[in-house]
Amino acid sequence: MKIKNLLLIILAVLFVSSTVFASGDKENGKKIYEKKCIWCHGKNGDGKGPAGSGAFLNPPPRDFTSGMYKFKTTPFDEILPNDEDIFKMIADGMPDSSMPAWKDILKEKDMWDLVEYIKTFAGLTGKPAKQIDFAKQVKTSKEGIERGKKLFLDRCAECHGEEGRGDATKKLKDDWDARTWPRNLTKSWSFRVNNNPKEIFARITAGIPGTLMPSFADPASKKKMTDEERWDVANYAASLADASKTIKEGSTVVKAKRILGNLPEKADDPKWQEAEPTNFYLVAQIIGKERFFTPSNNSIMARAFYNDKEIAILLEWDDRTKSIPGDEKAAEILLEGEVYNDAVAAQFPVTIPEEMEKPYFGMGDAARPVNMWSWKSEKKDAPQAVGLLNAMGFEKVEQRDANKAGLTAAGVYNKGTWRVVMKRSLKTGEKDKDIQFEEGKFIPIAFSVWDGTNSEKGSKHTMTTWYWIFLKPEAGAYVYAMPVVVALLVFGGCVLLARSSQRKE
Ligand code: HEC
Ligand code: HEC
Repeated sequence: MKIKNLLLIILAVLFVSSTVFASGDKENGKKIYEKKCIWCHGKNGDGKGPAGSGAFLNPPPRDFTSGMYKFKTTPFDEILPNDEDIFKMIADGMPDSSMPAWKDILKEKDMWDLVEYIKTFAGLTGKPAKQIDFAKQVKTSKEGIERGKKLFLDRCAECHGEEGRGDATKKLKDDWDARTWPRNLTKSWSFRVNNNPKEIFARITAGIPGTLMPSFADPASKKKMTDEERWDVANYAASLADASKTIKEGSTVVKAKRILGNLPEKADDPKWQEAEPTNFYLVAQIIGKERFFTPSNNSIMARAFYNDKEIAILLEWDDRTKSIPGDEKAAEILLEGEVYNDAVAAQFPVTIPEEMEKPYFGMGDAARPVNMWSWKSEKKDAPQAVGLLNAMGFEKVEQRDANKAGLTAAGVYNKGTWRVVMKRSLKTGEKDKDIQFEEGKFIPIAFSVWDGTNSEKGSKHTMTTWYWIFLKPEAGAYVYAMPVVVALLVFGGCVLLARSSQRKE
């Protein structure tokens, strides 16, 4: 017994001294901070670096002078985060924000030194006295999920929406006066930390400091939940992840499926489940005249069917707000400006390129004109609208008659998701203006999306880079494998364009 105690003491001493040793070197931290972090977080740690103002980055970089860290694993009444919390955000980055992951760039010791240095901006010292107790973790079960769902509808849905898509129509700002949107819990890749139940339990136990997301462990709160209840709701929130919305790295092709008979015309036709979904990141449009840095939509899903005459493409994206120009309720959630229509567009080259070459990023150019199909949501007193145009770059745009070209589009909004079906015949009479679809070829395609409640209109919108749509012949050994060089080009482009695309498990 005694020897064991002695061993424990030695271990404890070793542990303490190693943590003392590991607690960083501020001077070195400062050096690295001034090389890597000031651009966003500012020399004084106030979040006002050259790229850091809220006009350029959404969400804006953290202001370290407040001493508040949003993602921490210490209790709500403990101001200090754990050093590990800060370290983790630096190492892993924060998905769906501009905060990069540094673990492949910086040495581990340098990251600990950074932790020590950024704490000095708010004069944070010492270790937190209290810790969240994870010991009573409740495993997920059918009954637990049922209980969690009830609690979720009662405690979380007012902000996160009934189905967790972050579509509750509330104006939420954080303590730095930046608009915050409750996380879309169905997109696990968009979590700043991650969506495993333990992390979600930490979020609802500690709250997210500086935001309106409260602690549900605070005895003074009417919404307080017991440990067990918080595990139930955390398990439920984790179960909302929708795997079909996962963006697979390197997945660049919308695979159109050949069917016999009529194509589904309605966006909510269950038949669409039989078409394989492909997801793409949406990034802000920053090439055209009016640059735009504060988008709200982050991804779009596409599926497609075709038969011997027509092609139908289903575009599906989560948009927190149904934007109806002229409608008073739709205007209630605006912070400023006015409500425009929600909209979506798909672009194709007019002529399918022979060498899998893609039109110039954006709206084509003189040598590679594009054909753009678009759809707009309804106004208070006008129905949804279909649009068609041809473009040779941003300046040379020709509006065309969608009806005459036989293009249709219809959309349905449901609990935070827009679904729009666009349909046209495979071939048209205007070969020099309309894309003529062919089986077995990689046809370039790109998407644009507008969120009218986020003041998106005209060239202010989100978009994807160019990808492919492939009409897969029914029988036959067509492979999707494309030349390696092309795949690299496409993939490289996406990496550059995607906002923070890192995914964490
Ligand atoms: C390109 C801009 C950018 C750069 C460069 C950057 N950050 Fe960030 N950082 C952000 C943004 C944006 C956030 C806030 C994200 C949010 O609120 O969801 C953030 C948040 C953080 C947080 C807050 C975590 C929390 O829980 O509140 C820490 C810590 C952090 N950054 C450290 C660093 C360090 C250290 C560096 C340099 C090695 C760095 N950042 C470089 C943009 C950046
Ligand atoms: C008053 C509004 C509000 C309520 C109620 C609320 N949340 Fe949130 N939640 C937010 C906001 C806002 C954010 C985004 C904060 C940010 O990143 O700035 C958020 C973020 C989150 C995150 C994101 C964590 C990450 O890693 O990105 C999770 C998980 C979450 N909430 C779960 C819940 C659960 C579960 C409940 C109910 C027990 C709940 N929230 C109740 C407003 C709310």
